[in-house]
Amino acid sequence: PKDEIRFDGKVAVITGAGAGLGRIYALELARRGAKVVVNDLGGARDGSGEGSPTPAQKVVNEITALGGEAVANYDNVATVEGGENIIMTALESFGTVDILINNAGILRDKSFFKMEPENWQAVLDVHLHGAFNVTRPAFKVMKQNGYGRILMTTSAAGLYGNFGQTNYSAAKMALVGFMNTLKIEGGKYGIKVNTVAPIAASRLTEDILPPALMEKSNPGFVAPLVLYLSSDRCPVSGNIYNAGMGFFNRAAVVTGPGTVLGGQAVPTPEDLLKQWDKVTTLEGGKEYSQLNDLVGDIMGAFATPSDDKGKETAGIRSVAEV
Ligand code: NAI
Repeated sequence: PKDEIRFDGKVAVITGAGAGLGRIYALELARRGAKVVVNDLGGARDGSGEGSPTPAQKVVNEITALGGEAVANYDNVATVEGGENIIMTALESFGTVDILINNAGILRDKSFFKMEPENWQAVLDVHLHGAFNVTRPAFKVMKQNGYGRILMTTSAAGLYGNFGQTNYSAAKMALVGFMNTLKIEGGKYGIKVNTVAPIAASRLTEDILPPALMEKSNPGFVAPLVLYLSSDRCPVSGNIYNAGMGFFNRAAVVTGPGTVLGGQAVPTPEDLLKQWDKVTTLEGGKEYSQLNDLVGDIMGAFATPSDDKGKETAGIRSVAEV
């Protein structure tokens, strides 16, 4: 059918694809024609231990059995060399990389009071630094090609908070910040970057999801969104979506209209007390697509009706841009 979303001729790299969500993404992409690099270190749920080639190889075998094309990679996303090797595997096996799904993850839940530095660090290393380590070499290739699709995997724990997951929440929300700027830098090269917050039964969630939800949470229900955002039909960049059990919605950072306090003088804390509702309301709020949108609105708040200078002078350029 004309509307069918296909990946023929496309090369996809999926990290942590030996199990859970990543495995399903790999199988579904391959089923629709993509050549897939199945990366998985094969470690324990908390990232400890030696690792094993078995999970990644098994998924490759499954794909091959379906008549698809895939190659296994066992590198650790948490190291710079690991990230480079993963993309090297794509280049050596299939000549390029068009799609990168940053999915590898571990958990080390502890209430903050008991959060030792090593458990903080390990989680940041895999999720945040892992995404950096793999995205950096992939982005280079995509930039040359003038085409790319990059997905980050965040979590409702990061977007909204969840007891016992300060390390994980910090790492997952950091990926949103990473996307916010990468979407700008990638935009002119045809690279789209989006973020998915999945909900699915896996070994990461076996003791977290309520049993009633667990039954309905086949990772297959998340894959359609991941495939759409990975495809050449993807209509957006810089967006965040929740997905699970066939339910999908979009999450965003919304900024309220705000107000100027104090006139020409420096405002006092009491001014804030008096005008708190005006400061905090999200009514009439909007989504900004970059820092300069905020600067423009601040300038606009000071401009008199007949004065358009506010808008013209708005805009901060980063040194890297010039
Ligand atoms: P999973 O544990 O089944 O799969 C994660 C895979 O990543 C494992 O196979 C593991 O071996 C691999 N991995 C871990 N560290 C690695 C490293 N350093 N290098 C390479 N591979 C590594 O878990 P699941 O649920 O499929 O998670 C996938 C992603 O989705 C993770 O980023 C997770 O944080 C995220 N997520 C999952 C949710 C869920 O409901 N299952 C909820 C929110 C986010």
